[in-house]
Amino acid sequence: MYKKVIVLSVFYLIISLFYLGCSTNYDSKIIPAPSNQIFLDDYFVLDTKTSISYPNEFKHSVNFLKSFLSQGKHKYLSLENNNQSNNHIEFKLDKNFTSPEAYKLEIGKKLITITSSDNKGAFYAIQTLRQLIPETFENKTYANTEISIKCQIIEDSPRFKYRGMHLDVGRHLFSVEFIKKYIDALAMLKFNTFHWHLTEDQGWRIEIKKYPKLNTIAAYRDSTLAGHYTDRPRKYDKTRYGGYYTQEQVKDIVNYALEREITIIPEIEMPGHSKAAIAAYPELGCTGENVNVATLWGVFEDIYCSKEETFNFLEDVIDEVAELFPGEYIHIGGDEAPKTNWEKCKNCQSVIKRENLKDEHELQSYFITRMEKYINSKGKKIIGWDEILEGGLAPNATVMSWRGTSGGIKAANMKHDVIMTPNATCYLDHYQSKDTNEPLAIGGYTPLEEIFNYEPIPEELDSESSKYIIGAQGNVWTEYMSTSEYVEYMVFPRIFALSEVVWSKNKSNFEEFTSRVTSFFDRLDKLNINYSTHLEKID
Ligand code: ACM
Ligand code: ZN
Repeated sequence: MYKKVIVLSVFYLIISLFYLGCSTNYDSKIIPAPSNQIFLDDYFVLDTKTSISYPNEFKHSVNFLKSFLSQGKHKYLSLENNNQSNNHIEFKLDKNFTSPEAYKLEIGKKLITITSSDNKGAFYAIQTLRQLIPETFENKTYANTEISIKCQIIEDSPRFKYRGMHLDVGRHLFSVEFIKKYIDALAMLKFNTFHWHLTEDQGWRIEIKKYPKLNTIAAYRDSTLAGHYTDRPRKYDKTRYGGYYTQEQVKDIVNYALEREITIIPEIEMPGHSKAAIAAYPELGCTGENVNVATLWGVFEDIYCSKEETFNFLEDVIDEVAELFPGEYIHIGGDEAPKTNWEKCKNCQSVIKRENLKDEHELQSYFITRMEKYINSKGKKIIGWDEILEGGLAPNATVMSWRGTSGGIKAANMKHDVIMTPNATCYLDHYQSKDTNEPLAIGGYTPLEEIFNYEPIPEELDSESSKYIIGAQGNVWTEYMSTSEYVEYMVFPRIFALSEVVWSKNKSNFEEFTSRVTSFFDRLDKLNINYSTHLEKID
């Protein structure tokens, strides 16, 4: 084994020296930075006569490439499976090639070769190739008959298997068109998971056929806080706000994401952040009293009661959600659930007695574990925010560590998978600049460099427990983001730094990174993505 590794290493060293010998001084622009990139002399000229060949396994990725190139003013790649030796793009399936998301992209003078063991790797190779093609393709303004692509060899694979971005559509709702645009951006940066936060105190956003009042009542609030939560007196806009995604729209979005190698994790919050559902069905709460869909941000005492009716309701909801989302995970929330009502509720107290539980924290653990069993019975696994550790962690749960890293450390030491999303570094609703002209945000300060420097594996973990840190995620809570333009402003360019944290094995320095970010701005312009130009360092 070791002998083989040494022989291979020497082989790669010789090859690299050979390539270095003929490389020219050329700056990389790719985000996230690939593991290995070696520039060669010459250019491949992609033109209207370039042919392409590919195995059927890569059809989805090749369709993406074809559709991307069809945005030029001329027709490229007109010839298929017609192996021209002097102007050709060849996709190669190599089942022995490292991991499914890994790829090799070799751009020679007459031939581009893309090698991978899976459509995923081929897709990421195409996202890299896309960044080597002029950005005017992005807005359909490229007019030449030829595209010159610098000759190079890129070998690349991700550092983490979970690379996520989240979006809260409960506080503010965004169009299907924008959700697709967001997914497109994630795919371009080699993220593989979109965490769709679908239910909140301020609005329920997914159609559930068995419970129509979730869509007629829970999806709408009468008013929304105007200004900041801390303002006194608080002002409200007194305007009805809301809406939801129909199951047809959800299916369309799920398919759109799948074509881009993105898995969607739906989040159905429980037992807290459920005021909108309780507004529609007051019997789901402890008091049975009517409540309103929340008009203010924050944490509310109206949480689901632990009685049988609630479990029946949630199981019915999960039935419909599990049908819509083919991914392996359902996120059940679990965060910020005040126990005030449970303490006073005879139903909740009788469950505590019946199940021999110590207190309301153990009742939350019972609640989550019971839902976990149900979700497992549907062939899916649960993810929960780190509060699900309180009172005992459900047996197969994956933990999202948001209140710092301690929840993640504890869960990894218990051999549970962990996704790191500590608020200090991964919350993109924080301010990104101290500029006094910044638009209103929730608070906090997370400049670009803070994210760029982020190391998801806490140093407290030994190498065995570190394996349970499966990746990291950026969270986009939208209390203060009422438009998609503002979401983009908060996400870009900080998403670039996060993409390097989760993908890149060889991180460069911040100055080099920001030079790539600045050159990417042209592409964002063509993609009509609104971005901030703040490249703030940690001060
Ligand atoms: C959270 O930010 N409440 C997960
Ligand atoms: Zn109760």
